Amino acid sequence: MEVIVKAEGITKTYLMGKRPLTVLDGVSVSIQSGEAVAIIGPSGAGKSTLLHALGGLDQPTMGKVWFRDRPIYSLTAQERTMIRARHVGFVFQSYYLLPELDVMENVLLPTMTAWPMSRNRDAHRRRAEQLLDTVGLSGRLRHTPLELSGGEQQRVALARALMNEPELILADEPTGNLDSVTGEHILKCLFELTRERRHTLILVTHNNEIAARCDRIIRMKDGRVEV
Ligand SMILES: Nc1ncnc2c1ncn2[C@@H]1O[C@H](COP(=O)(O)OP(=O)(O)OP(=O)(O)O)[C@@H](O)[C@H]1O
Ligand SMILES: [Mg+2]
Repeated sequence: MEVIVKAEGITKTYLMGKRPLTVLDGVSVSIQSGEAVAIIGPSGAGKSTLLHALGGLDQPTMGKVWFRDRPIYSLTAQERTMIRARHVGFVFQSYYLLPELDVMENVLLPTMTAWPMSRNRDAHRRRAEQLLDTVGLSGRLRHTPLELSGGEQQRVALARALMNEPELILADEPTGNLDSVTGEHILKCLFELTRERRHTLILVTHNNEIAARCDRIIRMKDGRVEV
């Protein structure tokens, strides 16, 4: 099995006034391609910080993060953006849909970053339609986010995260704000769409039952991985 993403001894320190606050304290994790991994731990343990560091969104203070064989924070910002755009899908706890774009346009957004000159617009639209159908929103393509419920917005965010068929999907409490039925629907979509393609999923959750559905659980506390 191949390692898709790896953190080696990463620390993250914020300066709060003059006092340093250590949020990640020497974290090393190695994720195999195709794995579904849960990250659990109390609030403030550093789960989101680790997820962002693994996805190339937030540079650690020390240590290294590898995406396959590339040390992502040693690359140029532009190279890092391209790796993110083409290979990584984020599902955030807050959905970050663009309010002035409709559902379809929001889902198509990642293709514009990853392939700005693409001539495959029709293929992209078909894929977006397919994904929106999978998450149960095929009737809402022209709605704007403000016309959708929280659960519907999260489903759009999920479709958007999967648009570029990312090999690595990072989901931060994707069902945190949802009722259990909608949450279960989102999780099913997430697990099915990733397992089907043997993509890698890293899922932050507070829910032990959800964590148990992953292949492996990483427990964090006070900025460290518990062994
Ligand atoms: N920009 C920042 N400046 C200062 N401190 C920060 C910053 N971002 C995060 N922190 C601190 O880092 C710690 C870890 O934050 P993080 O968001 O990773 O926790 P978490 O495990 O995801 O928690 P939760 O389960 O509540 O989402 C927290 O104590 C938080 O206050
Ligand atoms: Mg968090």
